[in-house]
Amino acid sequence: MKAGNSKGKNIRWHSTHVERREREQLLKQRGCTIWFTGLPASGKSTTAFTLEHELIRKGYLAYVLDGDNVRHGLNRNLGFSMEDREENIRRIGEVAKLFADAGVIVLTSFISPYRKDRDLARTLHNDAGLPFLEVFVDTPVEVCETRDPKGLYRKARQGEIKGFTGVDDPYEPPLAPEMAIRTLDCSPEQCAEHILRYLATHGLIKPHLKVVPVMQ
Ligand code: ADX
Repeated sequence: MKAGNSKGKNIRWHSTHVERREREQLLKQRGCTIWFTGLPASGKSTTAFTLEHELIRKGYLAYVLDGDNVRHGLNRNLGFSMEDREENIRRIGEVAKLFADAGVIVLTSFISPYRKDRDLARTLHNDAGLPFLEVFVDTPVEVCETRDPKGLYRKARQGEIKGFTGVDDPYEPPLAPEMAIRTLDCSPEQCAEHILRYLATHGLIKPHLKVVPVMQ
């Protein structure tokens, strides 16, 4: 892996003493990133958290990086301008790559409205030899707006929020996602099951594993 740095000088990439393969053997799984994208209230986080729970139950180490949560910490200095969204997704692409390199099955749940930003995250993973699966959470805007769990569509319609994705800010749907899920037709459990089947048929998880109980 090489470092790409536009500001820092006199920095040098350190090679580790442990190969990714060794971590994967330790964890008995392969690190990868499952990148959920879709409109606000489309069901990204619900599906990602359901899938995370199911993976852990099956004995896999999985972790959700969620838009609202990450914006409380790492990305708390970013808003919703095009530049800030770009930086948000750039950082998450990098963090997801690090987690996946550590051997974790990473689930990212961000609107990630711009194709070029998602493509950059994909390229980062491809260059590092890490699987990257884009999942389009394909819920029509009218349905998202009816759900509106945080009341943000209403605020955007009333002009209290400017530049809200799906109202007065664009969303560019993926052109060739690995998977598309329709939350209108499927429950979160069915969507998670669909993705699990994809992971199994593509060799990212084993089809049959012992189910381990999750501590409450
Ligand atoms: S992204 O566009 O940069 O990918 P991200 O997924 O991190 O967005 O954050 C989206 C969350 O921020 C939404 O779930 C919503 O709760 C909140 N939010 C606040 N303002 C906006 C806005 N203008 N557009 C979209 N989401 C917003």
